[in-house]
Amino acid sequence: MKKIKAVIIGAGDRGFTYADYALKYPLELEIVGVAEPKKDQREKFSKAHKIPKKNQFKDYKEIFKKKRFADLAIITTVDQMHVEPTLLAFKNKYNVLLEKPMASTPKECALLHKEAKKARVFFEICYVLRYSPLFKTIKEIIKSGKIGEIQSIHHIENVHVRHYAHSYVRGNWGNEKESAPMLLAKSCHDIDLFLWLLDDTKAQYVSSFGSLSYYKRKNAPKDSTERCLDGCPKEQDCPFSTKKIYFNEDDKEFTNYLPIAKKNEENVIKLLENSQYGKCVFKCDNDVVDHQVVNLEMTNGATVSFSMCGFASQRTRIMRIAGTKGEIVGDLRKNRIKILYHLDNTCEKIIPGVLPGEHGGGDTGLIRDILFKLRDNQKSSDSFLNSHLICFAAEESRKNKKVIDYKEYRKRYYR
Ligand SMILES: NC(=O)c1ccc[n+]([C@@H]2O[C@H](COP(=O)([O-])OP(=O)(O)OC[C@H]3O[C@@H](n4cnc5c(N)ncnc54)[C@H](O)[C@@H]3O)[C@@H](O)[C@H]2O)c1
Repeated sequence: MKKIKAVIIGAGDRGFTYADYALKYPLELEIVGVAEPKKDQREKFSKAHKIPKKNQFKDYKEIFKKKRFADLAIITTVDQMHVEPTLLAFKNKYNVLLEKPMASTPKECALLHKEAKKARVFFEICYVLRYSPLFKTIKEIIKSGKIGEIQSIHHIENVHVRHYAHSYVRGNWGNEKESAPMLLAKSCHDIDLFLWLLDDTKAQYVSSFGSLSYYKRKNAPKDSTERCLDGCPKEQDCPFSTKKIYFNEDDKEFTNYLPIAKKNEENVIKLLENSQYGKCVFKCDNDVVDHQVVNLEMTNGATVSFSMCGFASQRTRIMRIAGTKGEIVGDLRKNRIKILYHLDNTCEKIIPGVLPGEHGGGDTGLIRDILFKLRDNQKSSDSFLNSHLICFAAEESRKNKKVIDYKEYRKRYYR
């Protein structure tokens, strides 16, 4: 088996996650270089992967000045920093695996799509859901013809309230200008799922509604303080209090996501006193939607309805796919699928395989399958431009309260 050599651009949360595959499966993947400005993180990462000093860089520009020394560049910088490193990687003939969203504007997405083709390199987006056992199994069921022709898809993305407060109010993805619209930042891989499950059928029309209705200053309880740790009198009744989210002995998930190397009490308190992570959830600079629906009519007549809800009590994705012969229902958190047959009202229950890691095992599945594709000299998939452009079209629909003719919309950016 040919081992793939990769460099990581941006050794943050996602960079560490994907690179971990190399530690578990060293015969398949080796991380041979890193670009990361934060010294602690760069050193921790380099130590774990035994990266020599000469291949440790502070900035992506430095790594791409050197002659190509790996097969693949895994680009996991923050949303606004995807375009330039990707173009430099193409220029140096690296194959690229880029975190979603590929870029923050439709123009830049189209540019990356065109440049990847020109450079003739393998280029994929980290659409982890496609690689989860649940959605892979659903795709196989559709292919088998068991539910006939797909007529409609309903898909719900349940974002747990605390996850929403951490990432989309206080965190990196709360403000559209600093990151991207919620639909693009969070849900472009859900939109991708529909296109992929429908075998790249194109969208014909797109519409969307949604807003930021709750996490706003006008909804702050009377007398609440600017920061939760300022002795807020409303703390006991507030599910979003940073005391509950970051000092919870039974659940360290969001404490572990805080942008500090050592998560001890002293450092966490310092961060909460000095950054937006410590602010009252109703008094931040967030502006992205807290609930949104998107409807698609596809060129073959199938319809899709998608709902992102930032008020969920359980984090999961639930999909119902209705076909002419039956219906599939899948729940990502439970990792369970049911097929209900129209002919005799019977139900078949399926438990997909299990892969470790987030996104129902999609994080692990993505790296495993991408390495396989590279070893096998397969072409990269092509639908990621459409999934991004549909998100931008949906945003235009939501903001202007109009239905978008997607074919016309796409022509504006890509011919
Ligand atoms: N596929 C998914 O399901 C999924 C899930 C979460 C996040 N994401 C996306 O992954 C990306 C990274 O998210 P994250 O949570 O890992 O962010 P992060 O902030 O933890 O990591 C980004 C890293 O890039 C580094 N960086 C900054 N400037 C750099 C430079 N000039 N050169 C090299 N590195 C530089 C930062 O120091 C940081 O360590 C984002 O685009 C995010 O939207 C995708």
